[in-house]
Formats: sequence, structure tokens, C-alpha cells
Amino acid sequence: MKSLIRFKLNGHEVEVEAPHHWTLLRLLREGLGYTGTKEGCGSGECGACTVIVDGLSVNSCLYPALEIEGCDVLTIEGLALEDGELHPIQKAFVEYGAVQCGYCSPGMVLSAKALLDRNPHPDEEEIRHALAGNICRCTGYIQIYSGFEPSGHVVWEDPVQ
Ligand code: FES
Ligand code: FES
Repeated sequence: MKSLIRFKLNGHEVEVEAPHHWTLLRLLREGLGYTGTKEGCGSGECGACTVIVDGLSVNSCLYPALEIEGCDVLTIEGLALEDGELHPIQKAFVEYGAVQCGYCSPGMVLSAKALLDRNPHPDEEEIRHALAGNICRCTGYIQIYSGFEPSGHVVWEDPVQ
């Protein structure tokens, strides 16, 4: 059985039919072709599937697709500017070498954005807490945390969009 779902995706109104058992992750990837959102564990453990729903970071692998009706969803595809320029958080990940295979990066970046949107100047503990649900198998986390140190970096100097 399917239902029509209407919601806002990366600033654009979307209408899509989805089976009732689908998760938001499956709706994004299979229903809409937004494959920037990754599936890792599929059970809420790794954070690879993180997207922002109404300002909060969520594990889309656990989020029932039908519950997205009327919500505002941001995926990694919606973060760069329209001319292709990367978001300051994405630039920070590149500059600090916080990306290796990149599989965790969309989720990491969106968890970081959700944090910075509600707290533009988090301390180290707040940064670590916000990213605690995002697992990285490659970087050892140091470069990722370094990208958010309040050291006059672009993330801190520029208004976060
Ligand atoms: S795929 Fe969703 S938390 Fe791992
Ligand atoms: S960069 Fe490979 S899992 Fe994080």
C-alpha cells in the first residue's frame, strides 16, 4: 500500500508516492534519487544517514517516510550554494582533511550544521556531543573535530547559512 507524501526538500516542494513501510532514507535514495544520504548500519548506530528535519538532525534510516508529511528536510544536496560553491562547513572539512573515503561525510556535515544553526559558537564538548552519533572508519576524528575549533576558521567567521 502506498500514500502520497508532500514535504519540502532542500527548499523545494515535493510530492511523492511511497510504500508505507519505507523509511525516509529509502524515500530519499530510491524514491527521489537523492543518493548523497548514505546507508551504513541501517539501524540508528552510525549516523551515515543523517539529514536535518525541521532543524533537527535525525537518522533517516529510522524515520518513517510517512511522518515526513509537511516537514522541511535538508539533505547534503541542499547545502552548497546554487553556483556550486561549497557551504563553509564543507570547506572546513576539505581544508582540515576531515574527509577520506567520504562515506560518513554527508552525515557529519549535517550534524555539524544542525549544531551550528542552534549554537554558532559551541565549545569542544558540545561539538563532540553533537557528532557522537556519527561514526567514521577512516579519519580518527581528530581532523573532523579540528575543523570546528574556534580558531578564527571560516566556519566561525562567516554566518552559517
Ligand atoms: S544508516 Fe542510519 S544510523 Fe546507520
Ligand atoms: S571518511 Fe571514511 S568513514 Fe569517515
